[in-house]
Amino acid sequence: MCNSDSKTIGPGKKPGSDLERAAELLVQGLLVAFPTETVYGLGGDATNDLAVAGIFETKGRPHFNPLIVHVASFEQARSIAVFAGDAVRLAETFWPGPLTLVVPRRRDCPVSLLASAGLDTVAIRVPAHPLARALLKAVDRPIVAPSANRSGRISPTTADHVRGDFGDDIAMILDGGPCDIGVESTIVGFGDDGPCLLRTGGVARPDLETVLGHPLKDGVSDPAAPAAPGQLTSHYAPRAAVRLEATDVREHEALLAFGRSVPNPTGPVLNLSPSGDLTEAAANLFAYLRRLDERSPDAIAVMAIPDHGLGEAINDRLRRAAAPRDEVAGRPHVAT
Ligand code: TXA
Ligand code: MG
Repeated sequence: MCNSDSKTIGPGKKPGSDLERAAELLVQGLLVAFPTETVYGLGGDATNDLAVAGIFETKGRPHFNPLIVHVASFEQARSIAVFAGDAVRLAETFWPGPLTLVVPRRRDCPVSLLASAGLDTVAIRVPAHPLARALLKAVDRPIVAPSANRSGRISPTTADHVRGDFGDDIAMILDGGPCDIGVESTIVGFGDDGPCLLRTGGVARPDLETVLGHPLKDGVSDPAAPAAPGQLTSHYAPRAAVRLEATDVREHEALLAFGRSVPNPTGPVLNLSPSGDLTEAAANLFAYLRRLDERSPDAIAVMAIPDHGLGEAINDRLRRAAAPRDEVAGRPHVAT
C-alpha cells in the first residue's frame, strides 16, 4: 500500500496526466488522497479487499468503522445498493453533493465487505468536486475514502494537511486547492420507521426536511452500538457462536485460522493469512466469517490474532462477533 516515490500534484500542472496517474495507482490497489467539496479523502479501490484493509492500516484505525463509497453517478450507485422512496428523492435532489446515504447492499454488490465493516448496508455518495468526479470517471469503479487524516486527528481541507499526516506513506496526493465546504458530508440512514440523521454535515437538516416533507429523526452513526434495539438487526454477526483464542478445533466447529501452525481441522477451515500478514488477514476477515457461517457449524473457532497494528482492529471486531448480542448494543464506541 505504501509507495516511497509519493508526490503531490498541484493544480495547473498537467492535470490530465496527473488524473490518469492517480487513476492508474488506484486501479493497482494503491492509496491516493484526493479533494472533495467537503474534505480530502484517502481513496482506495472499494472492490479490492487489500486496498480497503490498507486504508485502515494507513489511518491507524483501532477498529473497522465502515467507510463511505464514492461513485461518479446515481446510476453507478444503483449498481451497488438498493434505492427506494426517500433515498431516491434525496439522491436526486442532493447528488452530486455533500450527502451520504446508508442503503442496503445489492446481492451482487461489488464493494468489499470490509468497507461495510461486515454490515448489510453501504454508505454511498456522489461528490461534487470536479477533480473527484473526473477521477471517479477515469477509474470507472467505486472508491472508498475516509477523511485523509490519521485516526484521531483533524480532517484535512488542504493537500498540505494530508502531506503533514501521511508524507510518503501514500502513493499520491491530488491537489485541488482548499475544500469549499470543509466539514464532512451529512449522513442519512433508513431504519424501519423512515430516514434518520446519522451525522450532521455539508447538507443542512432543514434542506433535507423540505425534501422529505417531515422532520428528520436522529440516529446513531456507529452501527456497532445502536441506540434502538431494532437497529441491531442490521448489525452483522455470524449465526454460529464465535470462540476466540482457539488452540484446538472441537466437533462441529469451523476454524478461522491465522499463521503457519494450524490445529488439525475436523470441519471447514479458512486461513486469514498463512504467512501471518495482518493486512491480508483484515482483508479476508468479514468474507471468511461469512463463508464459514454459511457451512452452519455449531461454532467458529478463531485462532489468536496478534494485537498490534491492524490486529487491534481485527480483535475488536472479533470480540463484537463473539459477545452476546445484547452486550454488543451497550459497547462504547471510539469515533475515528
Ligand atoms: O465528507 C465525507 O463524507 C468525507 C469525504 C472524504 O467524502 N468522508 C468521510 O468518511 O467523512 P469517514 O470515513 O471519515 O466517515 C465515515 C462514517 C463512519 O464513521 C460511519 O459513521 C458512517 O460513515 N458509515 C459508513 N458506513 C456506514 C454504514 N453502513 N452504516 C452506518 N454508518 C456508516
Ligand atoms: Mg473522519
